[in-house]
Amino acid sequence: MPETQFTAGLEDVVAVTSDICFIDGDEGRLVYRGYDIHDLIAGSCSFEEVVYLLWHGELPTAAELQTFNASLVSERALRAEVLKTLHTLPPTGNAMELLRTLVSVSGLSDPDDADNSYESSVRKAIRLVAQLPTMVTAIERFKNGQEPIAPRTDLSHAGNFLYMLSGQAPDDYTTRAFEIALILHADHELNASTFSARVTAATLSDIYSAITSAVGTLKGPLHGGANEQVMLMLKEIGDPATAETWIRKALADKRRIMGFGHRVYHTEDPRATHLRKMSKEMGERNGNTSYYEMSQAIERVVKADKKLNPNVDFYSASMYYMMGLPIHLFTPVFAISRISGWTAHVLEQYRNNRLIRPRAEYTGIKRRAYVALKDR
Ligand code: ACO
Repeated sequence: MPETQFTAGLEDVVAVTSDICFIDGDEGRLVYRGYDIHDLIAGSCSFEEVVYLLWHGELPTAAELQTFNASLVSERALRAEVLKTLHTLPPTGNAMELLRTLVSVSGLSDPDDADNSYESSVRKAIRLVAQLPTMVTAIERFKNGQEPIAPRTDLSHAGNFLYMLSGQAPDDYTTRAFEIALILHADHELNASTFSARVTAATLSDIYSAITSAVGTLKGPLHGGANEQVMLMLKEIGDPATAETWIRKALADKRRIMGFGHRVYHTEDPRATHLRKMSKEMGERNGNTSYYEMSQAIERVVKADKKLNPNVDFYSASMYYMMGLPIHLFTPVFAISRISGWTAHVLEQYRNNRLIRPRAEYTGIKRRAYVALKDR
């Protein structure tokens, strides 16, 4: 038995090496392949460029981007088997569970399903990034008893998602704000869902199995599911005037405040900086800043009393709500962005694989005599 040291929640344990994403938790920096997210956003980088960057390690040239965009656009439509399966599922089901099921079913009908080579996994990764928005919008329309809207080929990844939800092409401000949110959620080093994806890939299982694991992991309220919980909290509070009293009571009752705290950041989460601003702007554009104001009051109290900062899920909640997204789609929307990071990590795992198999510190009874059934 090797010498083992238990670390609860694997805190600060380094489990893989990776060139994809760097987080400086003390400085509050998030870097994709050497590029600070603030610079990518200031430079008007598109989500598609970020996906290319995460996968290939370099920003694309204009010609490379054109080819890459064309490959994504050509894979946007769902296969008939996937849509048929959706219609056999309960429309009242949880949207993340429906998404997890569609990802899994897509693997079965993927033309490369039987081929687990690296090249085939890249083709599947393109389909996954291209089709997750189509799955999420089909799920939403199915829930509302509506037929899915076919993807358009002339809209960006962000714009096409919003179009497929409502049938209306979004305005430029909303498209860019949503695209920035997608860029901010694209990757985050070895977060819980990415770790799940890598553990699955490291058994040399297929990429659809890895992404199915990741979707299931993202759903939890301590991870991506927190954005929906934040909005439910804001709705429960209901009025900026009562937000401070509400949150003080919640803290006194030792409640966990969703959208606050982070395992890695010990300062402002750099994603929250952008999302706070977009939440305010989106509220102003809709003539309703009450959720932004409630969020500000909560942030002031939680920072002062608990020394906890808002994470990516806190201001994205009020931003998405003001965009008109239903609350149950907040976590699926996280997934349509994080699929870029998940696939980048799965491909990196395949390139330099070793089975991920840690140990448990056994705390049970070490040895005892068997007792026959009749004597128990
Ligand atoms: N509200 C109240 N107290 C908190 C919160 C919070 N949101 N977060 C941490 N704490 C407190 C804990 O109660 C604990 O206090 P104690 O030591 O007195 O018991 C201490 O801070 C440490 O908390 P842990 O849960 O051990 O910290 P950990 O690093 O394991 O958890 C996590 C990080 C899960 C993000 C946590 O901060 C949390 O539950 N936040 C709320 C859920 C959330 O927003 N999740 C999204 C994270 S971002 C993402 O995944 C996309």
